[in-house]
Amino acid sequence: MRVLVACEFSGVVREAFRARGHDAYSCDLLSAEDAGAHIQDDVRRHLKDGWDLMIAHPPCTHLAVSGARWFKHKLTEQDGALWFVRDLMAAPIPRICIENPISVISSRIRKPDQIIQPWMFGHGETEATCLWRKGLPKLVPTNIVEGREARVHRMAPGPDRWKERSRTYRGIADAMADQWGSGLADAA
Ligand SMILES: C[S@@+](CC[C@H](N)C(=O)[O-])C[C@H]1O[C@@H](n2cnc3c(N)ncnc32)[C@H](O)[C@@H]1O
Repeated sequence: MRVLVACEFSGVVREAFRARGHDAYSCDLLSAEDAGAHIQDDVRRHLKDGWDLMIAHPPCTHLAVSGARWFKHKLTEQDGALWFVRDLMAAPIPRICIENPISVISSRIRKPDQIIQPWMFGHGETEATCLWRKGLPKLVPTNIVEGREARVHRMAPGPDRWKERSRTYRGIADAMADQWGSGLADAA
């Protein structure tokens, strides 16, 4: 399957799909952290390149409700961020998952199809993550564990903190690749 992992610099989701034999590429304005198959560009220029599946992690800086107190000062940026999400949702790709924290996407575009947590996928952490799905079934928890720490609390301040905060959890990437990489006959 040809898989586009939009807005990914880490390669975590890309490598989960590659490990299962898929032709997966990450795409980000930034370079990849590893030497994997990566397109460094605006992903909107690559949405029509014949993908079977897209997993997208659009920036949440102007969308996440955790930053709501700043919304009134950045309405233009927020509008741009919402149009970016709409462009991703409208991509001519049969299976799409868009991932974001609790955000204004829910009120301005549509409610998410499901909300997952890292602790459902083997990581003892809490971080509500919304999924907007097209042509894909619900992502089923793979390993529910104890421990409910927020990962942001154990991160030292620094210029790369946002990267650590936004990196996709390996357990979630593995679940996506296992469950969405094949056997999609029951897709909703
Ligand atoms: C919240 S981070 C997602 C990180 C991802 N979970 C990972 O593990 O690499 C959002 C990413 O979107 C990228 N981005 C923003 N606008 C983009 C665009 N137009 N095309 C491609 N990537 C974009 C940013 O550079 C940033 O790396």
